[in-house]
Amino acid sequence: MKSTGLHFGDLVLPTPLLLSPLAGYTNLPFRLVIRELGSVGLCTTDLVNARSILEKNKKALKLIESSAADTPLAVQLFGSVPEEMSAAAQYLESVGVASVDINMGCPVRKVCQVGGGSAMMTELDRTAALVNRMVNAVRIPVTCKMRLGWDDDNLTAPDLARALEDAGAKAIMVHGRTRQQGFEGSVNLAGIRRVVEAVRQIPVIGNGDITSPEAARVMMESTGCAGVSVGRGAFYNPWIFVHIQHYLQTGELLPEPNFSERIRVMNRHLDLMIEVFGEALGCTMFRKVGPWYAKRFGPASFFNKGIVRISTRSDYAALLDQYVSWRTQFLDETGQLLPKYAPRPHGLNFRDEGETVVTDEPAVSRREAIPVPVGPNELW
Ligand SMILES: Cc1cc2nc3c(=O)[nH]c(=O)nc-3n(C[C@H](O)[C@H](O)[C@H](O)COP(=O)(O)O)c2cc1C
Repeated sequence: MKSTGLHFGDLVLPTPLLLSPLAGYTNLPFRLVIRELGSVGLCTTDLVNARSILEKNKKALKLIESSAADTPLAVQLFGSVPEEMSAAAQYLESVGVASVDINMGCPVRKVCQVGGGSAMMTELDRTAALVNRMVNAVRIPVTCKMRLGWDDDNLTAPDLARALEDAGAKAIMVHGRTRQQGFEGSVNLAGIRRVVEAVRQIPVIGNGDITSPEAARVMMESTGCAGVSVGRGAFYNPWIFVHIQHYLQTGELLPEPNFSERIRVMNRHLDLMIEVFGEALGCTMFRKVGPWYAKRFGPASFFNKGIVRISTRSDYAALLDQYVSWRTQFLDETGQLLPKYAPRPHGLNFRDEGETVVTDEPAVSRREAIPVPVGPNELW
């Protein structure tokens, strides 16, 4: 298993663990939280419209806002006009972005209708030509993120990956589901393996449903992918990269962070949100972030009801104080959650050849899907 030495062209990544783009979530504060915890090899922004970057649209520029601590950073572009995509990549290179990723997986109609997102998977030649043009326009690596194909009858990812390698792409990220699947069903490991087998040299990064170190190892061992990319799992658990890295290197599982560590990191996240977005917007945006941390607090209804009303840092501080007192009713005399209230991490379900379900929680027979957070486009 490869656990270091991953590179996209000349860009050497410190670990083979990537933060997947999650529109509406992978903003600068979240990326900094992840980076401060450690072991992430590359973070990617939310998808950004190439044309909006060229037009210097304020919202688009905010999406790519970065800082000295936010490296290496990939910006994910969507669009289908080669001139615009190339010019946007050149702009990103000029402001110090480490690599440019192209969105070929987004199933949202608005993106596909203009020939972007997963629509790119249906037109191999056109997509390869676009990538080639971008590759020739910049020195930084150009990478592509795709799904397995449009639907089960059109699993174009292996052919597309090969064509994109020939066009000069430096890495392929593949989410092991089809466009038609959305987030339903299980991740198809055999499908990812076919993409790994289809390319000659460039790394393929496996993605989908990684919520534990064991799941990362299953993904790497059964597909041969050079690294993994974690999306929703990182939102649940920003410590996931440290845990995966430690497990890949030692075979040991690190203990789950305790409540006070979760609170420390959540507080830091809010502080960064306020720093980057200002107090009013930062707090409003944090209304959807707080509940993710709370998923592993144990009983959290009190917190979840209150967090959607915070408007200031002091609203938040007051809520947290009250919540910590409320939560004591679920603790034993040593301050630990009574076992019946302890949160249970989600299981992991992958589909491999022959429909075998590989799970990191063999005791759980029922399929447990990871919730899909609502993105700005409602559906991903
Ligand atoms: C709310 C949300 C927003 C997403 N935004 C993007 C995006 O901007 N670009 C992209 O390529 N994929 C996006 N995705 C897909 C993720 O990057 C990832 O491929 C998918 O969630 C599977 O990985 P996971 O199971 O680790 O979350 C998004 C997914 C979700 C749930």
